[in-house]
Amino acid sequence: MIIAVDGPAASGKGTIARALSRHFGLPHLDTGLLYRAVAQRVMAEGLDPTREADVVAVCDFEDRLLEDPALRTDEAGKLASVVSAHPLVRAALLQRQRRFAQQPGGAVLDGRDIGTVIAPDAEVKLFVKATPMIRAQRRHSELRAHGSKVSLDKVLGDIRARDDRDARRTEAPMRQAADAALLDTSFLSIDAAVQRAIGLAEARIANRAQT
Ligand code: CDP
Ligand code: CDP
Repeated sequence: MIIAVDGPAASGKGTIARALSRHFGLPHLDTGLLYRAVAQRVMAEGLDPTREADVVAVCDFEDRLLEDPALRTDEAGKLASVVSAHPLVRAALLQRQRRFAQQPGGAVLDGRDIGTVIAPDAEVKLFVKATPMIRAQRRHSELRAHGSKVSLDKVLGDIRARDDRDARRTEAPMRQAADAALLDTSFLSIDAAVQRAIGLAEARIANRAQT
């Protein structure tokens, strides 16, 4: 069984994907980390992120890089959305994600294009959303908790810019798959959002079993 969870930054998709992974006992891959790892290598090696061929050259990295806490910074997230727009970068990371998705027993993956490109045949697809302001407030509290003095306005601007870049790129843009269930977490607590996601997933699975 493959569970695909897509959505924009701070929609809650990571929290939901981790909860589904625990609930169904499936391994989980946060695919955003792959693009963040590429961004991290671009920064570390002083490369120009707009030069596709240079970025492609750093796409073959080891899994342990995914554990580097530096990947979680806002800077890495922003640069990830620049390097992820290159078609050859997406192609370089495709098989790694497909292999993870197709392992025996199944998997949960979260990202932007899991239900549309990486695993179009996933049994369960969720598209998680929340208003830009609510997502900015969530990110802002996370950043504040880590000592940042960044303003809410700046975080909101960054979220909108990233949404725009991710939704407008020509290769695998962020969008809800036609057969994905929509989950708006704007006014849901984490617990309520997770319960809703588990309910939607179980309904999909029961439905499949009948047909
Ligand atoms: O993975 P993604 O960037 O979509 O979001 P996340 O890391 O799961 O959630 C972003 C932040 O929003 C975290 O601090 C969550 O605890 C919080 N959150 C929330 O306040 N309410 C929800 N329903 C879901 C997440
Ligand atoms: O946690 P958050 O939603 O802020 O970001 P992320 O999921 O770590 O993704 C960082 C960036 O990687 C996104 O803004 C996308 O540009 C890119 N990404 C992508 O293009 N496709 C994916 N499947 C996952 C992430």
